[in-house]
Amino acid sequence: MRTTLFVGALALLAIGCGSDDEEYEPTGTGPAARVFCDSSGKNAFDTYGTNGFVAVNEEIFELTTAELTANGDANLGSSFSGVADFARFKGRLAAFLVFVYGGPDTITYTDGVSYTATDQDMTAAHTGMGITSAQYDYFVTNIIVPALTTSGVTADDVSSCFAPPVTDATFKASIVGK
Ligand code: HEM
Repeated sequence: MRTTLFVGALALLAIGCGSDDEEYEPTGTGPAARVFCDSSGKNAFDTYGTNGFVAVNEEIFELTTAELTANGDANLGSSFSGVADFARFKGRLAAFLVFVYGGPDTITYTDGVSYTATDQDMTAAHTGMGITSAQYDYFVTNIIVPALTTSGVTADDVSSCFAPPVTDATFKASIVGK
C-alpha cells in the first residue's frame, strides 16, 4: 500500500488534499493512504524525492534538539530524553514520512540502514510517553511546519499535502495521552 503523510499547521486542517481515487483514511494507529495532492496533482514523494525527505527529516531533529536545548521540557515534555537510539528513531521517522506521502514502504537512510514503515504503530510507539495535546500541537506548529518550509516545501503543499494527515483528529488521538 502506498500512502501519504507529513505535517502542517492546525489552522490548515480545513484545506483539502483531494484524491480522486484514494482518499486519506486514518487508521488511528499508523500511516494511512493518501497519494495525490490537489496543489500539485501528484504525491509529495514524487515532488520532493529522497533528498527532500531526508532534508525535512534532518531538520525535524535539528529543530527538536534546538527546542530542547533552549526550553528544556517546557514545550515538548520529557519523552525525548528517554530515546535510547536516535539513529534508529531518525531512520524510522524518515521511513514513516516517505511512506505516508507516497514513497516506498522501505528506505535505506543516510546511515546505510534499511528502515520500514509498514510495521509501525503510532499508538504503540508513543505509549507511556504521556504526550499532551499542547505538546503535539507545539510539535506540529513549531517543529514540523518550519522543517518543511525551510527545506523548500511550498506553502501550498504544506497546507494541502502535508498538514491534513497530521492534523487529523483520529491520528492525533493515536499519539496523545498514551
Ligand atoms: C505529527 C506528529 C507525530 C508523528 C508523525 C510522529 C511519528 C513518530 C514515528 C514514526 C516514530 C517512530 C515509531 C517507531 O519506531 O515504530 C515516533 C517515535 C517517537 N515519538 Fe513521535 N510522532 C509525532 C508526535 C510526537 C510528539 C508530539 C512527541 C513528543 C512531544 C513525540 C515523541 C516521540 C518519541 C520520544 C518517540 C520514540 C523514539 C524512540 O525511542 O525510538 N512524537 N514518532
